[in-house]
Amino acid sequence: MPQLIAGNWKMHCLAAEAVALAQGIAAGAQGIAAELLVCPTALHLAAVAEALHGSSVAVGGQNCHQAPQGAHTGDIAAPMLRDLGATWVILGHSERRLNHGETDELVREKTVAAVEAGLTPIVCVGETTDQRAGGAETEAVGWQLAGSLPKPFTGVLAYEPVWAIGTGKTATEEDVAIMHGFIREELVRQFGDLGQAIRILYGGSVKPANAGSLLAVANVGGALVGGSSLDPREFLAIARAAQAG
Ligand code: 13P
Repeated sequence: MPQLIAGNWKMHCLAAEAVALAQGIAAGAQGIAAELLVCPTALHLAAVAEALHGSSVAVGGQNCHQAPQGAHTGDIAAPMLRDLGATWVILGHSERRLNHGETDELVREKTVAAVEAGLTPIVCVGETTDQRAGGAETEAVGWQLAGSLPKPFTGVLAYEPVWAIGTGKTATEEDVAIMHGFIREELVRQFGDLGQAIRILYGGSVKPANAGSLLAVANVGGALVGGSSLDPREFLAIARAAQAG
């Protein structure tokens, strides 16, 4: 399976900037063996999906509600994302877990809702600075894996250590090898043979300069990219460093 290189645009770009970014990425996507995905704010999904039409770049949301519809002011349902052209959705990102109090149980419910709507979920896990400082990083990720994934799980995992997000600090290849190996074991324990095939992305200050070495680590199935996904040249350089599978 090819590696997946996903851009999480977070709360960046006005509409015209988002369209220009999508066009820049689509223009350089030919010949790249990795699977490519961009996740703009939901407000720009339709415009970005249109800009990417006919290209090999998919579009996804950054979050969804756990209900398919209803009285939930300000929220966005998974079928609405699908309706605008999204085929993926990021769920349980640490910024949502920390800033919006999302629990493992809620992330699991959202994951079920996403799959029911025809979206492929990217479920994020990762330890905080304090958890790593206390030597509790695998325990923390283990709890998140146990609580956030429905059975069966048809999607992708993303390991994003909170201390590496937007900080320029990247986990070492050894950190990544250990954690991705642990996640693989947990996925196989939870899902049997199916757990072998689930892609596990690494996220946290992935840049063109470190992408090649991070993407070559065992059990790394791709990258979830924040800051560097906002520049087409950087995002495409990361994508070119990916493995065809
Ligand atoms: P950065 O690449 O900016 O560290 O962000 C990572 C991330 O949170 C992607 O979801």
